[in-house]
Amino acid sequence: MTQPTIQPTPVYGIGDTTYQAAGGLEGITRLVDAFYNYMDTLPEARRIREMHVEDLNPSRQKLTYFLSGWMGGPKLYAKHFGSISIPVAHSHLPIGMEDKDAWLLCMEKALADQGYEPAFQKYIIDKLSIPAESIRLMCEFKAKNQDQ
Ligand code: HEM
Repeated sequence: MTQPTIQPTPVYGIGDTTYQAAGGLEGITRLVDAFYNYMDTLPEARRIREMHVEDLNPSRQKLTYFLSGWMGGPKLYAKHFGSISIPVAHSHLPIGMEDKDAWLLCMEKALADQGYEPAFQKYIIDKLSIPAESIRLMCEFKAKNQDQ
């Protein structure tokens, strides 16, 4: 009787495993391009698209550089732009639950387009949901306290 093949569970988040699974800088660049293309075209993303300036290229570059370091690869954002706190960098924006969901929807669709393993797509969305939620909380806190 043949033994069933046990597929090893991929491990992400150790060293540069996430960066490698994303395809390095080229893969992240493609992912971020797809992400901003969805933001530019999906009706659900209209509000968050309007929070950006007309030219999305600086945002494409900044998110690509940020994700490189965030995924365990070269810390390109820090190298080119210095240190960043993701919630603080968004705290001037009116980001609520629907905006957070729209951002994650664009990312979910962009990840699916890359042909990544489903487990990897889920890993990235789960991990990005954490800073996305911190952003929402920070923005809603700021908006509430400005009203008073
Ligand atoms: C929660 C939903 C989010 C929305 C609506 C959003 C929206 C935006 C907008 C409008 C900008 C441009 C800011 C400006 O021009 O002043 C921006 C910048 C940026 N976002 Fe987000 N964002 C979200 C989540 C995230 C997440 C989860 C990350 C990464 C973990 C991220 C990373 C960045 C980076 C690195 C920049 C450039 C910051 C800078 O250099 O000033 N964003 N975002």
